[in-house]
Amino acid sequence: MDRNVRSVEDVLRLMDGLFAPEADRWTAGGADWWDGFYADRSKPVPFFVAKPDETLVSYVERGLVTPGRALDLGCGPGRNALYLASLGFEVDAVDLSPGAVAWAGERAREAGADIRFHCGDAFAEGAPDGPYDLVHDSGCFHHLPPHRRVSHLALLDRVLAPGGHLALTCFASGAMGSELPDAELYGAAEPHGGLAYTPESLRHVFAELEEVELRRMRDEPADSPWFGEDFLWAALFRKPGGSRPGR
Ligand SMILES: C[S@@+](CC[C@H](N)C(=O)[O-])C[C@H]1O[C@@H](n2cnc3c(N)ncnc32)[C@H](O)[C@@H]1O
Repeated sequence: MDRNVRSVEDVLRLMDGLFAPEADRWTAGGADWWDGFYADRSKPVPFFVAKPDETLVSYVERGLVTPGRALDLGCGPGRNALYLASLGFEVDAVDLSPGAVAWAGERAREAGADIRFHCGDAFAEGAPDGPYDLVHDSGCFHHLPPHRRVSHLALLDRVLAPGGHLALTCFASGAMGSELPDAELYGAAEPHGGLAYTPESLRHVFAELEEVELRRMRDEPADSPWFGEDFLWAALFRKPGGSRPGR
């Protein structure tokens, strides 16, 4: 008989197990799934380009975020981590996939960027723990199953400094990702390529943070130095407390 649930983490793990094996990118097999995804670097995947999010560039250029300690959460091949490091941020970058971390590490070496990489589950014990002035999540949050939002929020609670920012980029409802209600995702055979969010759902999830800006990302042309896809929301939230940039 299995009577092991005692903590929130036990409940979350139990819920991970409600997904079918084909949905393993949402569970313990996520690293293998993502490794397979990154195996062919020549695939025409929009975020394989070595360019930072246009929204992140815009936050920096407007002084909404200023250099400090940053975490690139689900960094993939490291395009945003590299940009932040080039501006003098002290960057930690974490990803589940060894293939992604290896690729990001190669890019960092080529650029002479000093980034601390961590390969593993960003929400598990032993992951980088801040405190950070900026947590940047471009495309990781929308790949989490509903119950793992609890882990995401717990991470922000733990590692984001008062006055620090969360910069989040995720699938926009009506444009990309699954529109299924949370409850219907359990028992679904596969994770539908990620979850769609509305501005209201993002405000609801991140209600403990102050909204600085929430807009659609701008579509960037192929010759732009920035990454931009208009099927994404880009949100900048601020943790209450601390002092504001420029004050
Ligand atoms: C859509 S990709 C985005 C990569 C990168 N942020 C970018 O925009 O170029 C999502 C990334 O999140 C990572 N990921 C998903 N769940 C994770 C977790 N629990 N901990 C760390 N990384 C995770 C995946 O391995 C994948 O590289």
